[in-house]
Amino acid sequence: MWKNIEAAPADSILGLTEAFRADQNPKKVNLGVGVYKDDAGNTPVLQCVKEAEKLLVEREKTKSYLPISGDPAYAASVQELLFGAGSEVISSKRAATIHAPGGTGALRVGADLLKRFNPDAKVWISKPTWANHKGIFGAAGFAFDEYPYYNAETMGLEFEKMCEALENVPAKDVVLLHACCHNPSGVDINNTQWEKIVAIAKEKGWTPFLDFAYQGFGAGVDEDRFVVEKFAEAGLDFVVASSFSKNFGLYNERTGALTVVSPSAGEAAVALSHMKTTVRVNYSNPPAHGGLVAMTILTDKDLKALWLKELNGMRDRIVAMRSALVDGLSARGIEVDFSYIKEQRGMFSFSGLNDKVVQWLRDQKGIYVVGGGRINLAGLTTANIDYVCDSIAEALTVCK
Ligand code: LMR
Repeated sequence: MWKNIEAAPADSILGLTEAFRADQNPKKVNLGVGVYKDDAGNTPVLQCVKEAEKLLVEREKTKSYLPISGDPAYAASVQELLFGAGSEVISSKRAATIHAPGGTGALRVGADLLKRFNPDAKVWISKPTWANHKGIFGAAGFAFDEYPYYNAETMGLEFEKMCEALENVPAKDVVLLHACCHNPSGVDINNTQWEKIVAIAKEKGWTPFLDFAYQGFGAGVDEDRFVVEKFAEAGLDFVVASSFSKNFGLYNERTGALTVVSPSAGEAAVALSHMKTTVRVNYSNPPAHGGLVAMTILTDKDLKALWLKELNGMRDRIVAMRSALVDGLSARGIEVDFSYIKEQRGMFSFSGLNDKVVQWLRDQKGIYVVGGGRINLAGLTTANIDYVCDSIAEALTVCK
């Protein structure tokens, strides 16, 4: 069956981790995949997760199937995180949430759902975007178009051009937006700019699809939901894919959620019924453990406080590494001004390193950066920062 078939290329992000694992260089550094590391270079289980797991071992009574959409209590805690306690969207029941296996699972269920009811729609993605967005929406059968986002000369947001493009998106189409911590650029839309985008969506009628994989990594859990609140206030139909891989460190538990918001409770109930049929033919019902952990934390005052403390600690460490990188590079007399890295948010930065430099760093120094120059700041530690800065400085000279 396979002898005349060409092998598929390695995944541009997860494939890099496989190559990193095989690399024998003792000084190797993985700045590829978006996984948080502490200053010792480990990806620890959060203490709040450990505590919740202890409680679960005591309390769990069954491994029987969850409902197709997951535990309703999980959906309720996700909605509180998404919209804030006491939100009108929650009290009016105009949001429907299902427990999905990770952000990718949520995106795929959402993509399948929208494709069923809007088969001629195109999906508009930011230029650039997370490599897997095209894969997921493409697998659901969508065609794409891009809206301008990142300006490689100013290293900033191409806001005017982005708005122009969004003003011309047909009403039947879907626009995929990164709610915060844009992946791969780290360049975010500010609140005033979000208000303009919400107004455009309202006027033009296209469907916003928010990828919310980094809630809490931008400015904070409450601050990062600004765009969700604004779309909700506007009374539009929109979709949100949440991931708890990063903010709860539940990477391998595949924990996320898909939320459909509509103008009325009746419409949300219809949406939920179709979300369930989409899930049933896909993976039947979600894996329980990660969701139970997140729900246990979110519904326990002390565990939630511990979680927020740990989450804020992760965000602060990444911010500190942004400064350490910029200062370390400037201390090495590099002509290029990398100070924009300090302004970016979340785990990633479009470093401005070209593909030749990226390849050289990998081959010569065992430093792994995603093609296009995306670096994961959380892979930097006080132990490897000098090695990384020295190596980038050398690469910029050698690869001139
Ligand atoms: C990333 O962008 O590195 C992460 O979201 C992990 C992934 O699945 O690609």
